[in-house]
Amino acid sequence: MNKSKILLLNGSGFIGLHLRAHLVAHMGEDQVVATYNETSFPGGVKFDALSMDLQQAVPDLEVFSHAVILFASTHPDDCARNPEASQALNVTVVKAIIDQLDESNVCPVFASTEMIFDGQKGDYVESDPMNPVLLYGKQKAEVEEYLRGHVPGALILRIANVYGSDPAGGGIIAGWYKIVADGAETVKCASDYIASPVHVEDVVEAVRRLMESGCHGTYHIAGPQPLSRLEIFETLLDEIRKVRPVEVNVVSCSINDFPTVEGRPLNISMKADKLIAETGLTPRDLRLACRHLVDAAREIRFLNLAVEDSKLRAELLDAVDGVLRHGQLILGPEVEAFEKAVAEASGKRYAVGVSSGSSALYLALKSLGIGPGDEVITTPLSWVVTYHAIAACGATPVPVDIREDFNLDPGLIEAAITPATKAIVPVHFTGRMCEMDRICKIAEDNNLLVVEDAAQAYGASYKNRSVGSFSTVASFSMNPMKVLGAYGEAGCITTDDEDIAEKISVLLYAGVVRSEISEYIEINHKLDTVQAAMLLVAMKYLPARISRRAEIANRYNEAFRDFAVCPQSSEEWTHAYYIYSMQVDRRDELKKHLEDRGINCKIYHYPMMPDQPAYAYLPKTDLPVANNVVSRMLSLPASEKLTDDEVNYIIETVRDFNV
Ligand SMILES: Cc1ncc(COP(=O)(O)O)c(C=O)c1O
Repeated sequence: MNKSKILLLNGSGFIGLHLRAHLVAHMGEDQVVATYNETSFPGGVKFDALSMDLQQAVPDLEVFSHAVILFASTHPDDCARNPEASQALNVTVVKAIIDQLDESNVCPVFASTEMIFDGQKGDYVESDPMNPVLLYGKQKAEVEEYLRGHVPGALILRIANVYGSDPAGGGIIAGWYKIVADGAETVKCASDYIASPVHVEDVVEAVRRLMESGCHGTYHIAGPQPLSRLEIFETLLDEIRKVRPVEVNVVSCSINDFPTVEGRPLNISMKADKLIAETGLTPRDLRLACRHLVDAAREIRFLNLAVEDSKLRAELLDAVDGVLRHGQLILGPEVEAFEKAVAEASGKRYAVGVSSGSSALYLALKSLGIGPGDEVITTPLSWVVTYHAIAACGATPVPVDIREDFNLDPGLIEAAITPATKAIVPVHFTGRMCEMDRICKIAEDNNLLVVEDAAQAYGASYKNRSVGSFSTVASFSMNPMKVLGAYGEAGCITTDDEDIAEKISVLLYAGVVRSEISEYIEINHKLDTVQAAMLLVAMKYLPARISRRAEIANRYNEAFRDFAVCPQSSEEWTHAYYIYSMQVDRRDELKKHLEDRGINCKIYHYPMMPDQPAYAYLPKTDLPVANNVVSRMLSLPASEKLTDDEVNYIIETVRDFNV
């Protein structure tokens, strides 16, 4: 008979869960059978050791080579409080199971503990005599003796204090991490209670290797060094503090200051030299595990919109206060001041504040008379509003393929022009401008209008000309995600043409030309005074924001350029770094890798506009470059709020994936 299967007697505890997953990964699902008592799991076999017979739960016992006995009442105080019940579960039942396993020729693998030692000496080796002081240790020692007497081929594993590096999982460091994360002011730790904590992944690796190599006898599964509770906590705290400041008062005490039923043995550290020599396993260092746990618990948001800078918050509140005091909540003086500031910054004669970037693009197109029957050439890759604004005017969006830099390919525009074409809407995607001189030349040659959808590119420039300066009208979004963002919805339109500026001012006010008289069918698109007031504050911080974003983008470019297509910026082509998007192979796998490590990333914008259900009525166009680009692009957190440590972490995590 092929006896290769492993039976786990309780696969739902901390070690059991990890061991089951580890064995399944190495041996395949059909080679591992695990039981549970209370917490069921798919494929698990119900087995309550106190009330059921093992042979009933697992009738084909003889197909197993090993059975790992993990169930027990493991808390020393519970054992001491309930001596009869714990004796039944930890000893009587286990002995009966060992007999059954032996009869079926299954090797018992018994999970024992360092509590079988008296704690007087520390650094215990397998040949040291057992001398338990706690009832729990005595129970485990009794089973060890029984096994040694009755089943010489059995494996006895004295497993030290186990921890993991999953912040949401079990074990001591995850528990302490939670206490710190929850903001504990004081943590009491024993400096005289010394163990050799071991990572749960090392435990399961050790168990598998020992079983695989047919080992028998007693083994210590322990971490590489003896550590007090206080040292463990300080190591964890140290790693947390590398990532963020933590204020916690650490109080050193004795383990016996805690209210325990039985006094604890003090130094129960064990040496795992025998395990290391026979299996080649090197248990990992606690510090590394703490670092992994801290990393796994991190969350780097794609964009954190909370205003954490107290100086900025005070200025914003001041600006809002000013508006509340004068009470002109609509079309107040701050709207005019904001418009003046944008016009000056973009070198245009007029800027008109509106309620959003969507309204901005829609009104820009409307002001030029674009409407039913007109075709408007644009990119397929933008926030869906680019298409919606065109369609809301009654016109038809016509997509033209893009280049690797995400922007409209000027070389393909002419082929898309028809007698119905009225305008081109280039979108400066992610904050990098389109090749505007070529696009404008094509428009001029073909008598077309150009409206820059500059929603993502405030602050960018091309050939020393600022964004918005190439077209008759340009639209901007100042929604909170933008580099120049309001604290709610906002947008703006720029132009040099007085008539167009005037028309937009009428359109945004429900087409009203003078008191109560409306000449155009239009709704309300006005910018709030409060948003304008806060935008005036935000404008002061814009140069610093863009330069910090450029610094981060340059670091990413430097780190990723060997395996990714990175966003390009140059003196001629100044990026506004609204979004840092790169193109990589195995994009979805990388995204998962980053997200599993707490780094939020995004795919901008998928599905593309022509594939949105709203545009199912339009004919399909072949867009090979755009389709390829969206299947490979990934946007990373890159806002000015990231700390250097977070940037380093993102770089290392991306690199880890590509090694
Ligand atoms: C290219 C583009 N156009 C238009 C808009 C619409 O702007 P808003 O969200 O302010 O309405 C956005 C918004 O992100 C955009 O990215």
